[in-house]
Amino acid sequence: MSSPAPATLDALFGHRLVVVTGKGGTGKTTVSIALGMAAARRGLRAIVVEVEGAMRVGPALGRAPLPYTVRPVAPGLDALSVTSEAALEEYVVRQVRFRGLYHAVARSRVFGPFMDAVPGLHDIIQVGKVYDLHTETVGGRPRWDVIVLDAPATGHGLTWLASPLHMMEMTVSGPFHVNARRVHAFVSDPERTAVVLVTFPETLPVNETLDLYAGLGPFQPQVACSVLDGVHPPPVLPDDAWPAALSRLETLPEWRESARLTDRRMRRSRAEGAVCQRLESALGIPVVRLPYLPRTPLRPDDYVALAEVLEVGGLGR
Ligand SMILES: Nc1ncnc2c1ncn2[C@@H]1O[C@H](COP(=O)(O)OP(=O)(O)O)[C@@H](O)[C@H]1O
Ligand SMILES: [Mg+2]
Repeated sequence: MSSPAPATLDALFGHRLVVVTGKGGTGKTTVSIALGMAAARRGLRAIVVEVEGAMRVGPALGRAPLPYTVRPVAPGLDALSVTSEAALEEYVVRQVRFRGLYHAVARSRVFGPFMDAVPGLHDIIQVGKVYDLHTETVGGRPRWDVIVLDAPATGHGLTWLASPLHMMEMTVSGPFHVNARRVHAFVSDPERTAVVLVTFPETLPVNETLDLYAGLGPFQPQVACSVLDGVHPPPVLPDDAWPAALSRLETLPEWRESARLTDRRMRRSRAEGAVCQRLESALGIPVVRLPYLPRTPLRPDDYVALAEVLEVGGLGR
């Protein structure tokens, strides 16, 4: 039986940029790595981009934290960690073609406060770096078919994508304006940029995801799917037979403890099912479920396992 979700991956990887966002701690980095691996397993050249100096991807895959230099992290998969400082240096040096001048200015006491004073500069400079990555070519072909952006947590994630537009409004004309317009055209193009909302199967995060979706404004049509990360396996017992079994087992002292544990799992599974359904019907877009893996921290192989689950369209419903 075929489920609609594999088509989700096809559709997703038809975009050059996949922006993975959601609330902090919901699994954005995990899902970004799994998506990058799923793309690479399809023979696409993929890169996972961390931003704001996050350095989770390298260690998650058993490697050193990533620098501001592209590194291979898995077969067919590259990764890079972007900071606004490094991206700004690259940008300025490219404009003035003289690194010494950049350092002379960057070390001056006005530079830091200047950067902090320009609203959204830290954001747009990093979005600009992602834009630049998508223009890189090797042998006349794009260097990467798919760029997976492990975006900042929501709240901030929204202003992030909108930062080129804000820069355009602020500058009106000039080279900054022209660059911002180019970057905005890229991130706001539903053909080229897709958004994935990551959440986990509990009431509060799901509510926050619905709020985020509602607040996405013009970016809303770009949301390709939501990923529910950390879904627990349902117990094998059928729901309707359980209450009778539970009351019987509770009368048997040697079974009481495991019966209660099973009951807790039944309840959790039912609650997770309910929030998944709520998310699905409220969003009206595919919701892909990834399993909870009972290991902390996750091992490099676990990301391969999650990529495989993505390939078959997530867990069944
Ligand atoms: N499916 C999963 N099973 C088990 N642990 C997970 C799963 N997804 C994420 N985690 C763990 O949850 C924590 C938060 O995940 P992470 O991807 O770093 O979230 P975020 O990037 O949104 O802050 C990490 O310790 C991660 O290893
Ligand atoms: Mg993260």
